[in-house]
Amino acid sequence: MKALVVGSGGREHTLAWALLQSPKVTEVVCVPGNGGTATLARCRNLALNPSDFEGIARFALVNNLELVVVGPEQPLAEGIADYLQDQGLKVFGPCQAGAQIEASKAWAKALMVEAGIPTAQAAVFDDEAAAQAYLQQQEVPIVVKADGLAAGKGVTVAHTLEAAAQAVTEVFSGKFGAAGSSVVIEEFMVGQEASVLALTDGQTIRPLVPAQDHKAIGEGDAGPNTGGMGAYAPTPVITPAIMERVQAEVLEPAIATLRRLGIDYRGILYAGLMITPEGIPKVVEFNCRFGDPETQAVLPLLETPLQEVMLACIEGRLDSLDLQWKPGAAACVVVAAEGYPDSYPKGMEISGLDEAAATGALVFQAGTRLKGGSIVADGGRVLGVTGLGDSFEEAIANAYAGIDKICFEGMYHRRDIGYRVQGIAAG
Ligand SMILES: Nc1ncnc2c1ncn2[C@@H]1O[C@H](COP(=O)(O)OP(=O)(O)O)[C@@H](O)[C@H]1O
Ligand SMILES: [Mg+2]
Repeated sequence: MKALVVGSGGREHTLAWALLQSPKVTEVVCVPGNGGTATLARCRNLALNPSDFEGIARFALVNNLELVVVGPEQPLAEGIADYLQDQGLKVFGPCQAGAQIEASKAWAKALMVEAGIPTAQAAVFDDEAAAQAYLQQQEVPIVVKADGLAAGKGVTVAHTLEAAAQAVTEVFSGKFGAAGSSVVIEEFMVGQEASVLALTDGQTIRPLVPAQDHKAIGEGDAGPNTGGMGAYAPTPVITPAIMERVQAEVLEPAIATLRRLGIDYRGILYAGLMITPEGIPKVVEFNCRFGDPETQAVLPLLETPLQEVMLACIEGRLDSLDLQWKPGAAACVVVAAEGYPDSYPKGMEISGLDEAAATGALVFQAGTRLKGGSIVADGGRVLGVTGLGDSFEEAIANAYAGIDKICFEGMYHRRDIGYRVQGIAAG
C-alpha cells in the first residue's frame, strides 16, 4: 500500500519512517515534508500546502494512495479529514468537530466537565473586563490560556495577579488572532506532567505507551517553553495503576461524551496529564494528533505495523487489534538552532547524519531541507535523535552517542534529557 503523510516536522518524518517499517507499505509521500522525508528510502516529498485539501485529494486519488495520515493540528482543525473522507479516502485523524478538543480550550473544558473528567477548575470569558474582574478574586499561581490554537504560545502560568492580568490583556490584544477571542482562566495544578496518546476508532480507545517530554529550553527544565526539547517512553510516572485510572476516568469518558455529542472521533486522542502527588491523573489539555517529540520516542517501540493500527482505527476494528510493543525504552533528544525558541538562523549545513545513523540511533529530521545534495537547517527544532535500550540509561546514552556525530553551526541540545528516569529499568 501507498500512504500520504501531511506535515513537515520531526513527527512526520517519524510517521513516514514507522509506516515504511512494514514491507506492506511500498511508498510514502509527504506533504510538504522536510529534508528527512526527502532522503528516506521509498519516501518523497510533494510541494503542496497542508491547507490545499483539493490538491491533496486529487493527488491521493490519482496515485491510489490508500491511507492519509495527518500530522499537525491546523489542517485537522480546518476540516481536512472531513474533506478527504468525502472524496472517498481513508484518513487517520479526527473530523473538524472532533479537532475542537484541541482547537478550543473552552470547548475542551466544557467537554471535560460534562464527562466528569478530572481537570483544573476553570472559568471562560469572551469579554476582557469580565475576565479581569474575575481574576481579582483569584489566588496565585493561576493559569491564563488563549482559547484557540496559538502554536504553544497562548498559555501563561502566572505567579502574581499583575502577571495574570497582563496575560489576559495580551490574549484580548489580538496577538493570537482568532485564538484570542476568549480566555480560559484556570486553577494551577501541582504534579508531574506526562502524556498519554491514545488510539481510537470512535468506540474503543487504547493508550500507546506513556511518554514524558521536556518543554523548557534549558537544562534542569529552566527558561522559556519550546515545542519540546526531548521525550522518553514508557515513562514509569504512569504506573499500571495510574494508567487504569487514565483509561477509566479520562479516555473512556472522553470518547463516550464525544459520541454522545454525535462526534465520530477516529485517530489519536492525546491527553496531556498532571499526575498529582496523590497519583491522580488530571487533564491539562487534549490534543487531536500525535505529539512532537513524543512520537519520536513512542513509535520506535511499536511492534505492530503502524498502518495496520491506523486502518483498524479508521475501519472501526480497534477492539480486535493485537497491539504489541518492543521491550525496553526510547529517548529522543532534540537538536535546535542557536537562539531557538526566539529567532534563529537557517541554512547551516548539517554533517554527520550518516555517521549518527551508523551508531544505531534513529535520526529524525524536523526543521531541515534538502539543498543541492546537502541537508541544511530550516527551522528552530532541527533534529530529533532517538536512542533505544534495555534501560533508560542505555536509551539516553544511545541518543547522545548519535548526536555526538552530528555537527552544524550553533547547534544546541540539552544534555540532561531523561534525568527523572536515569537509572530506572524500563518495562
Ligand atoms: N492548570 C494548570 N496547572 C499547572 N500548569 C499548567 C496548567 N495548565 C497548563 N499548564 C502548564 O502550561 C503548559 C502549556 O499548557 P497547555 O494547556 O498544554 O497548552 P498548549 O500546549 O496549548 O500551550 C503545560 O504543559 C503546563 O506545563
Ligand atoms: Mg500542551
